[in-house]
Amino acid sequence: MKIQTGFSDKVATVFRILGVYQYSLLRQQTYLATHPFYGACIVKFAATVFAKQQLKVEAEFLYHHSDRCWPQYLDYGSNMGIDWLIVEFFDSLSSGLGNMTVEDQQKITTSAEEALNTLHNNGYVHGDIKPSNLIITLQNEVKLVDFGSITPIGSDYHSNSILSLTPKFCALNPYLRSGQALPKHDYYSLAISLHTMWRAHPFSDLTLVEFARTNGSALLEGLVSRYQILVSNQLKYAKQFTY
Ligand SMILES: Nc1ncnc2c1ncn2[C@@H]1O[C@H](COP(=O)(O)OP(=O)(O)O)[C@@H](O)[C@H]1O
Ligand SMILES: [Mg+2]
Repeated sequence: MKIQTGFSDKVATVFRILGVYQYSLLRQQTYLATHPFYGACIVKFAATVFAKQQLKVEAEFLYHHSDRCWPQYLDYGSNMGIDWLIVEFFDSLSSGLGNMTVEDQQKITTSAEEALNTLHNNGYVHGDIKPSNLIITLQNEVKLVDFGSITPIGSDYHSNSILSLTPKFCALNPYLRSGQALPKHDYYSLAISLHTMWRAHPFSDLTLVEFARTNGSALLEGLVSRYQILVSNQLKYAKQFTY
């Protein structure tokens, strides 16, 4: 008998156990699947201790906080030593975002702000806002995904060891793991994400601290003025930190 040890073999076995026979890999350990009860859905897997901790945080958050701004929790469990989470699937825009009308961009911006505001009103900072964690639906509505880094507003960054962040979209405090988690850190990441989606990354894919060291001026003309101010202020802090 063949001994199954590889991750993809285990995933195939778990899908069989779940009664799922159609699935395709979206990214790393996230699959689009057709479930016998739930239909089209997203299945996320976790094999390492760190990934399992993050998936648990995500599962618990989605289980306890249901909202149309993020996917509905469907099921969560463990088989073959790997944990899995099943959530609602959102059909998203596949064509490029760069050639959208200004009206579409405004609708997407407002929808993303509503989603973040809803999350913050629930008491949490998302912690990893970036283009791949913002699903833009066919109706130009924004859904937040990937809740493995959520953290209660006001909690200390340095005491939370399981946060994963994406440096080039990250505000100064979470990047340095200092200070408290605040909603404005998500808005900063949203501003960088929107500029990246419409035009290009404002710091040519550098982190805030790396860019501050170059002394260059950021390309922010793709942003409304409140986001230009937010990003400029973060850049100012980063420069103070650098020197
Ligand atoms: N509910 C969903 N509906 C549609 N696509 C999704 C959904 N959840 C995740 N995805 C897609 O799968 C990708 C990976 O999922 P994500 O939850 O961000 O996992 P990871 O922790 O690997 O980044 C996302 O960038 C997105 O493209
Ligand atoms: Mg993600």
